[in-house]
Amino acid sequence: MKILTVVGARPQFIKASALSSALGAVPGIQEVLVHTGQHYDANMSDVFFEELGIPAPAYHLGIGSATHGVQTGEMLGAIEKVIQEERPDWLLVYGDTNSTVAGALAASKLHVPVAHVEAGLRSFNKKMPEEINRILTDHVSDALFVPTSSAAEHLRREGIFGPQVHLVGDVMYDVALNMAERARERSPVLGDLGLTEGGYILSTVHRAENTDQPERLRAIIEGLRAVTRQTPVVLPLHPRTKRIALEMGLEFGDIRVVAPVGYLDMVRLEQGAALIATDSGGVQKEAYFYRVPCVTLRDETEWTELLEAGWNTLLTPASAEQVEGGIVSRLGQRGQDVALYGTGDAARQILQVLRGPA
Ligand code: UD1
Ligand code: UDP
Repeated sequence: MKILTVVGARPQFIKASALSSALGAVPGIQEVLVHTGQHYDANMSDVFFEELGIPAPAYHLGIGSATHGVQTGEMLGAIEKVIQEERPDWLLVYGDTNSTVAGALAASKLHVPVAHVEAGLRSFNKKMPEEINRILTDHVSDALFVPTSSAAEHLRREGIFGPQVHLVGDVMYDVALNMAERARERSPVLGDLGLTEGGYILSTVHRAENTDQPERLRAIIEGLRAVTRQTPVVLPLHPRTKRIALEMGLEFGDIRVVAPVGYLDMVRLEQGAALIATDSGGVQKEAYFYRVPCVTLRDETEWTELLEAGWNTLLTPASAEQVEGGIVSRLGQRGQDVALYGTGDAARQILQVLRGPA
């Protein structure tokens, strides 16, 4: 059996690593990895292949950055060619990026079954490019792997239910369980940055709804600057945010701005943080995996169970004062000790479904 996996953006390399190692161990299954090139800087792409032991992609499409239409369109054409050449039994995609929807659409038009990992997530905000990507991908998928029962419920309300929907937990939890010890032992990042365990706040910002609205980005950066008066703040800066912040002339003050970090360093920074302030989907969940309180710098989140369990709070970045106040007031507060995302064997369960009945 041949599985064509399409990845392209940072979080997809991390998610794909769980299944790629499981697939590699099964005789009779061949995974052909396609990298669209959506993320291309070494610290947004190569570092994850190296650290997570992901095999080099068989195809690198080199699409790169562009407007949504151009980027997705170029991916669609290039993936179609690969599918025609490889004739896979499944096309596998992760999450909600332009690489995800391009892969799903190319395959479904060629009648190749689509498997979507992290199906059923919804923000109910169609202004987000990710929401469009998720809805479209789910509606052309033949196997939908949902991380939570609420994701399955979202699908049911859109008319997608039955044996093609599989509740398997979250592949990111599989990865977190594998990486936790390794990061503690191997990452020197806390020492390198002069940070102490529990003595700093970690932040990441990259969502279009924050970077593309100058007043929101200004509120976040100025709010984080204000927080540094009492606690150090570390900000591994996404290239999109860096570019826009520079264009806006924003000053980072005492915020410890660093380039995007590799996965071991990121996990170590998450584990050691007193609090995480982020607009990332993956980082919200990792905060909970490492039992660190999180403030989500958005108006809504797809991962609502984190709010209910008390590990996460939403914070609309309307002003620097609100951002500072929201972060400072959350310090030291913990959530409930509940298991939200399965048992850490999502990859094994997905593999079983794709292989079909023994
Ligand atoms: C994309 C996904 C988003 C995901 C994020 C993970 C879409 C629509 N968005 O957003 O859902 O949360 O990845 O990080 O698919 N850039 C570089 N170097 C790189 C990659 C990007 O400099 O290696 C810069 C370019 O200026 C580019 C910008 O970042 O225009 C945005 O990149 P893009 O992949 O379009 O969107 P992300 O914001 O990364
Ligand atoms: N991440 C990383 N280095 C960084 C920032 C993030 O390794 O400098 C990891 C993070 O731990 C998580 C994933 O990238 O696993 C999240 O990706 P991102 O925030 O870019 O996208 P999202 O999850 O919001 O789609």
